[in-house]
Amino acid sequence: MAQPDLYPVPPEWAARAKVDAASYAQLHGRSLADPGSFWLEQARRLDWVKRPEIAGDWSFDEKDFHIQWFADGKLNAAANCIDRHLKERSDAVAIIWEPDEPGEEARSFTYRELHAEVCRFANVLKALGVAKGDRVTIYLPMIPEAAFAVLACARIGAIHSVVFGGFSPEALAGRIEDCDSKLVITADEGRRGGKRIALKANVDEAAARAPSLETVLVVRATGGEVTMSEGRDIWFDAVAQGVAADCPAEPMGAEDPLFILYTSGSTGKPKGVLHTTGGYLLWAAMTHDLAFDYVQGDVFWCAADIGWVTGHSYILYGPLANGATTLMYEGLPNWPDASRIWQIVDKHKVHTLFTAPTALRALMKDGDGPVRATDRSSLKLLGTVGEPINPEAWRWYHGVVGEGLCPIIDTWWQTETGGAMIAPLPGATDLKPGSATKPMPGVDPQIVDAEGQVLSGAAEGNLVIARSWPGQMRTVWGDHDRFFQTYFTTYPGKYFTGDGARRDGDGDYWITGRVDDVINVSGHRMGTAEVESALVAHPKVAEAAVVGMPHDVKGQGIYAYVTLNAGEEGGEALRDELRQWVRKEIGPIATPDALQFAPGLPKTRSGKIMRRILRKIAEGDVGSLGDTSTLAEPAVVGDLVANRVA
Ligand code: WT7
Repeated sequence: MAQPDLYPVPPEWAARAKVDAASYAQLHGRSLADPGSFWLEQARRLDWVKRPEIAGDWSFDEKDFHIQWFADGKLNAAANCIDRHLKERSDAVAIIWEPDEPGEEARSFTYRELHAEVCRFANVLKALGVAKGDRVTIYLPMIPEAAFAVLACARIGAIHSVVFGGFSPEALAGRIEDCDSKLVITADEGRRGGKRIALKANVDEAAARAPSLETVLVVRATGGEVTMSEGRDIWFDAVAQGVAADCPAEPMGAEDPLFILYTSGSTGKPKGVLHTTGGYLLWAAMTHDLAFDYVQGDVFWCAADIGWVTGHSYILYGPLANGATTLMYEGLPNWPDASRIWQIVDKHKVHTLFTAPTALRALMKDGDGPVRATDRSSLKLLGTVGEPINPEAWRWYHGVVGEGLCPIIDTWWQTETGGAMIAPLPGATDLKPGSATKPMPGVDPQIVDAEGQVLSGAAEGNLVIARSWPGQMRTVWGDHDRFFQTYFTTYPGKYFTGDGARRDGDGDYWITGRVDDVINVSGHRMGTAEVESALVAHPKVAEAAVVGMPHDVKGQGIYAYVTLNAGEEGGEALRDELRQWVRKEIGPIATPDALQFAPGLPKTRSGKIMRRILRKIAEGDVGSLGDTSTLAEPAVVGDLVANRVA
């Protein structure tokens, strides 16, 4: 039987959800027609120390470039995520924590307990001299302390910069230095899929390359052995014993920074994406509420890591601002076996599961058995994020995981956007496998051609956002000009997403993938320039060019072309050495999947590498390389094709 291409809103969802099709149209229409009053009304979702009277104040034009939301408002993000729920929901569970080891007991924290933990953590930070505006780097595994640390920073107005625990000491050092962070919070070790990750040892290595670092605060997680450096390293427990159990929440300006999160771009080092307090928090809360139709009491599980924006917005800030019960999982979805993720759903009666297509594809490989072996009757909604979802994975998620009963919420967004931008609302939007469907209230997407001409109706081109929204990033830390240049110069007056998209005749958006030199590996962004610079840092490498290639689980894999220094010989051993080298320089997610030794790279006469050709070869599409006559040395192409790594 042919599979349908359209999955209409189930009638019970249309009846029950907070937003149905008519109210979505009204909401979105009003958000664009009358943004001032719309956003001041939405701002009531938060608890303000001083309620704002102005909504958006922004211009994307070079002469007057600025972005502000609710600038006269004052609030504290942690108080919004904790304190305001104490009156009525202090005994409701805020966080459920599921450990890596299935046999170990899960832990849970009520809002009252979360308040105590976060206050204690905040007082520890204060005792170490952390003050409002200071940058604090958080390099922790997925343990409850990661949530406490983030919220503790927010509570005292320190700017957190969470670095994913899978990043190398080198990558960590770069991120500590870039924002001049004096304190790193880490743990002895992390655990994932039964393996230990030597986080503290990584920090020790990073510290040697990060002179700004003064203090390392160490949480005891596994009890694994670490070396403590006198005068620099401090056990969390030792300080925590002496601090008070209450800590006032610092009133912050809505435009005061909340956090920095580093992400890869098409050029240069990773950028420190800066989000501010009021607009970001409102965006995380509103999108969590609308896209997932969140009802208090439901268990919400975003199976991401806190090291990525998805974890920031949908494990912590969005759900907690809405008084939700959020599940935090330490381990991997398919460890110790392919059923684990579904067992966790059953164990904690999860209502909403939010994960990435790459995880689904990995799970699909084990067939339907491990899914069918579990109950999953608690599930009512399924979400996806990180990369375009292929229709096969969508249908498997919908039909097998959700037994055909759960709408699939495919959320398109970016680290820069703070939260979901294009996504269906379960009671309002008919679903199409592979389409992120319709814009959230306040989002004004456009499709433009290469010249910036706005295309109307059904069209394909580059995706831009024509106006500001509260969750928009405000700057690149330390480099405001780079912020402007990266996002607002390709199509002047508009935010350029870096993605291509198609809009169909129903006005539904289909994201086609990055149109810049960024590759999406397992839903994580990798800049080709970063991998290239790691490769050329190896003493035997003269030059490197990196492109994406199709990969059936990761979505995209990393394909590297490497030119060696004169006299060096490429072989299996060096190939492995270079792959390990990149892994060590950046982290496991950056490890090239394929590495080809190339005596020469295809360059124009002005010396620019023609990536288009390299991409085609990596994709195996060697029949349509296009015009190669403008190359300085057209002959290199034949060698590249002949030595393609399958
Ligand atoms: C890039 C942003 C959003 C948090 C996780 C990744 C791609 C993200 C989707 C989706 C198609 C998607 C885009 C985007 N992307 N979600 N639902 N459908 N593509 O955040 O690391 O900032 O990456 O991920 O290419 O630009 P990120």
